[in-house]
Amino acid sequence: EKKKIIFSGIQPTGCITLGNYIGALKNWVDLQNDYNCLFSVVDLHSITVRQDSALLRKRCIEFLVQYLACGIDAEKNILFFQSHVPQHAELSWVLSCFTYMGELSRMTQYKDKCAKHADNINAGLFTYPVLMAADILLYQTDLVPVGSDQKQHLEITRDIAMRFNGVYGNVFKIPEGFTPKAGARIMSLQEPTSKMSKSDPNENGFISILDTPDAIVRKIKRAVTDSDNLIKVREGHDGINNLINIYSAITKKEISDIEAEFDGKGYGDFKQSVAEAAVEELRPIRERYNALIKDKAYIEEIYKKGALAAQKLASRTLSKVHRKLGF
Ligand code: ADP
Ligand code: NA
Repeated sequence: EKKKIIFSGIQPTGCITLGNYIGALKNWVDLQNDYNCLFSVVDLHSITVRQDSALLRKRCIEFLVQYLACGIDAEKNILFFQSHVPQHAELSWVLSCFTYMGELSRMTQYKDKCAKHADNINAGLFTYPVLMAADILLYQTDLVPVGSDQKQHLEITRDIAMRFNGVYGNVFKIPEGFTPKAGARIMSLQEPTSKMSKSDPNENGFISILDTPDAIVRKIKRAVTDSDNLIKVREGHDGINNLINIYSAITKKEISDIEAEFDGKGYGDFKQSVAEAAVEELRPIRERYNALIKDKAYIEEIYKKGALAAQKLASRTLSKVHRKLGF
């Protein structure tokens, strides 16, 4: 039986956080054996916000190498930069003609981004979900791993695909989303009611997967909690809940086991354990990264091979779309 197809990507902005790792990369590593996966550095998406060109180019490479360092295998998966596959932008135009202004204006992420980037509310920010739909539909993707922050985008992707198929027949596979288990949403260490984000200006709010052990320990010790000193998941206790989720996601221990393990102990002890777990989880990733990042030729070989493989699949879908449209 043919393996199912998975597409996922991360925008090359800021640095890859522990949230991206737990919510995306760690799951990708598990998925790569059972599915045909395309993992992209979605650089086209990143220019909805102004980027410095040299920095963007450097960051794209660094992100790809972090995928590898996390254990994503370049032989088993297609790893590529989105901008190297022009079909993403081409399909995006077609799909935008099958997307309503009303649907796009209901996207909560658009509203959030407008509030954050009031000085540059460009059309790309608005049509971002259409490009994301193209990313997914281009590869006849079966499954999309989505954090809870992306559910609305997958819904609109399905709606656009069904609308197009309704007119032209079965052109696109309708993708399903899945949110890999609990702990999928990691919150900021400083403002635990909002998600840990790589664009957080407060660097104590997030842990980069390349942070040194010292930095990881310091950030977890400074993580905002209340004064209850109880290691128990409870509504409204976002800070400690988040640390418990992080600990659970890394150690794969059940929440109830963690609560039992730390019964009678305080936040100090628990933070120490969370920090140790995070340090040990990220140590081999940082080491592999530092070794791999030096090998420019190897990295180039990977993304060039990935672009060719992705283009081949993408052009199949795009040719079909063009034929159906009468081009
Ligand atoms: P960011 O929101 O940090 O800019 P992206 O939007 O590029 O990152 O998301 C890349 C992937 O990482 C997506 O699959 C997203 O669901 C996941 N992700 C991002 N932030 C978190 C988080 N705080 N917790 C869990 N998963 C996250
Ligand atoms: Na995001």
